[in-house]
Amino acid sequence: MTTRPLIIDTDPGQDDAIAILVALGSPEFDLLGITTVAGNVPLSLTSRNARIVCELADRRDVPVYAGCSRPMVRTLVTAEEVHGQTGLDGPDLPEPTMPLRPEHAVDWLVDTLLAADDASITLCPIGPLTNVAMAIVKEPSIVTKLREIVLMGGGFFEGGNVTPAAEFNIHVDPHAAHVVFTSGVPLTMIPLDATHSALMTNEWIERVRALGTPVGVAASEMLDFFERFDMDRYGTAGGPLHDPCTIAYLIRPELFETRNCHVDIEIGSDLTMGMTVVDWWGTTGKPANCIVARRIDPDGLYDFIHDRLAAL
Ligand code: BDR
Ligand code: CA
Repeated sequence: MTTRPLIIDTDPGQDDAIAILVALGSPEFDLLGITTVAGNVPLSLTSRNARIVCELADRRDVPVYAGCSRPMVRTLVTAEEVHGQTGLDGPDLPEPTMPLRPEHAVDWLVDTLLAADDASITLCPIGPLTNVAMAIVKEPSIVTKLREIVLMGGGFFEGGNVTPAAEFNIHVDPHAAHVVFTSGVPLTMIPLDATHSALMTNEWIERVRALGTPVGVAASEMLDFFERFDMDRYGTAGGPLHDPCTIAYLIRPELFETRNCHVDIEIGSDLTMGMTVVDWWGTTGKPANCIVARRIDPDGLYDFIHDRLAAL
């Protein structure tokens, strides 16, 4: 099997952790590295958590690079109310022993992409887009090296989850999102509209726990903790599992209902700052710059995630 070179840019976060595990459980990918960014919790914790996850999967060989500690323009906003003080509350996992790589994530992204063939590398950002935008600003020619970016972020029909207009990843660094969405890179966005269409069930979390492996047990404890916030907010029997949807999309795109649209990022208005303005009906006549996911087949998604966690 030819493997697909992949980079994950992330702010773990329990759902980020599951996304990393699903990627590690998928033989389709060659995970070149993980870059961390400030988001759900500060950078020191996201960098710690990414290494905890690699060690949980017994993959100390995956290089982890720490990136930007704050957004490009705005003050950092974090989400301990969702993810807990560590960002990875739930399971009791040991502190990581594998070191962070010495290079800054933005430099590593630039160097790695410059050395790659054109349109060869897939990038999955599942946190604020600061590192990705900074790399594009530093060396715009890296865009041609990317096969595609598949990101979790935004929300249009469903609104936002931090403000009425803005989803967390875009809300934290809307200016970075603006750079990415105007960069010309082939882009797919998995917004709240899609992730809220596929909620976890208790039965599914129990299937993950019943794997009985260190990964299965820790993942189920992360999910127990993570889903309670959205269940309380939305009054649903289960929560969404945002970030792993990016990895699922890369391998099982047929599970996703999508449309190619023009998407703009709001960076001018205090009221709607960070909104992903999706031209779903083509009213602007602007050319499409993003494949936007609208719905996901829940059974297919959760079978996929379960099976990939089972492989670890
Ligand atoms: C996104 O925000 C974070 O809290 C999650 O990890 C996910 O990336 C959902 O809005
Ligand atoms: Ca995330």
